[in-house]
Amino acid sequence: MSDLASTELSDYAERLIRGRHATRAFRPDAVPGDTMRAIFSLAGTAPSNSNAQPWRVEVVSGTKRQRLADVLQATHAQQHTSVDFPYSESMYAPVHKKRRTEFGTGLYGALGIGPDDSTARAAYNAESLRFYGAPHAAFLFVTGDGGARLAADVGAYMQTLLLAMTAYGVASCPQGLLSFYADTIRNELGVTEGKLLVGISFGYADESAPVNQVRTERAALDATTAFHV
Ligand SMILES: Cc1cc2nc3c(=O)[nH]c(=O)nc-3n(C[C@H](O)[C@H](O)[C@H](O)COP(=O)(O)O)c2cc1C
Repeated sequence: MSDLASTELSDYAERLIRGRHATRAFRPDAVPGDTMRAIFSLAGTAPSNSNAQPWRVEVVSGTKRQRLADVLQATHAQQHTSVDFPYSESMYAPVHKKRRTEFGTGLYGALGIGPDDSTARAAYNAESLRFYGAPHAAFLFVTGDGGARLAADVGAYMQTLLLAMTAYGVASCPQGLLSFYADTIRNELGVTEGKLLVGISFGYADESAPVNQVRTERAALDATTAFHV
């Protein structure tokens, strides 16, 4: 560490980037409108191929959010899903599956849900369609042809957004599960363009909730990254 040039900015980046975590319990307090605009304006500085900025962002709050949560739960109860980006368990490599299992063990363990209790897990996931109690949700749509390259740009937007939220003291949870109800969300919000990549619940964290103490590990640097000279 001694030869690392530590600057005010790098110290800040360490705290900001390592300080972001998925939050799964929120206080009901709304994020003020001017804070909201600052956050989403900052997120819009994300890089994209040729600066195409192929994202379309829909933010819901208040009665709209309440209604959407109700409709999502009803849609889920009818087992009616609609995805814009196909999903399959087979997309995961064995090492991904191992990491997913470790993550699930940590999360459900903190909730007191046993590893084989699929009923309780399903109930928790269904309840998460109420945005984990967050007062706001943002839906990220990929415009253009919605292909992999444009979706990657929207992924860059997502992380920029999550970090902007962290900087403003706003907690978040990206929820791929919300993307399984793409038609419902499109219909409720009157969206006519784009493919739904992910929803992000956000607001102020309920610091007293044990689930918010869950922390995830990462693979060792050398397991994912090679430096060629
Ligand atoms: C694209 C994406 C989709 C996710 N979907 C869900 C989800 O549906 N439900 C959930 O509780 N967390 C979801 N997460 C949060 C991840 O579980 C979390 O980011 C991961 O376990 C690492 O933990 P950390 O964010 O606290 O560092 C998602 C994250 C991403 C980036």
